[in-house]
Amino acid sequence: MSAHKNVKRITTHVLRSMKENNEKIAMLTAYDYSMARIVDSAGIDIILVGDSASNVMAGHETTLPITLNQMIYHASSVVRAVKRALILVDLPFGSYQGNWREALKSAIRIMKESGAHAIKMEGGVEIEESVKRVLSAGIPVMGHLGLTPQSIYKFGTYVVRAKEEEEAEKLISDAKLLDELGCFGIVLEKIPAELTKEVSQNIGCPTIGIGAGPHADGQVLVTHDLLGITKDFNPRFLRRYENLFETIEGAVNRYIQDVRSMDFPNADEQY
Ligand code: KIV
Repeated sequence: MSAHKNVKRITTHVLRSMKENNEKIAMLTAYDYSMARIVDSAGIDIILVGDSASNVMAGHETTLPITLNQMIYHASSVVRAVKRALILVDLPFGSYQGNWREALKSAIRIMKESGAHAIKMEGGVEIEESVKRVLSAGIPVMGHLGLTPQSIYKFGTYVVRAKEEEEAEKLISDAKLLDELGCFGIVLEKIPAELTKEVSQNIGCPTIGIGAGPHADGQVLVTHDLLGITKDFNPRFLRRYENLFETIEGAVNRYIQDVRSMDFPNADEQY
């Protein structure tokens, strides 16, 4: 069913009241016009133009190579498609870690050049000043804690984070800080379910989990993973709703056969 008729935009205020009313928030990624149109039409609450575009769209091993200009290109394409969802864009690696001036400049470029509604940054106390300055420019910020893929070379692996007490304590204190600074939400990636529960119960802004259990205020997945377009990524937390790799491959196969056998185009498919 299309959710485009009589659409009311999802705002950061709507998301906060969803948490207050115990309504779960559904978030998915999109990086291009066509996918964003489908995902928005289905009624998703937040579309994340994630730096996972670096993996999914460009085939890189990590999220590190994608540039600010490339993120703006993806975000602009999504903005042209979306009528209802809040559009959130990742600040890519290298565009904000240097200092708050750089962070502010990058966030302003995303908002001005793409027309998106909010930005996301990875990290806690380390990026406190940047979060403050971006928020003070009127730009909504979502935090991202736990497994933060831009730090993959520091972690060394993609295993579950914050299982030990020290890291869990830091995560709780980072989440409280981001909430107090005024972030409108926090992604919690690949952390124990009980830790997600504790964080979500102790902060005012919604948490959005990925591999973080059922107690987050919302869930996010990479759309290409959920649809089974990506093939080799099979973490325990991923639920695949389709196997579009095989569906699309099968359709392309049939097309190739039809072209070769001259079944396509037929008499009705020509002028
Ligand atoms: O870039 C991304 O897709 C993300 C999600 C995994 C949360 O940050």
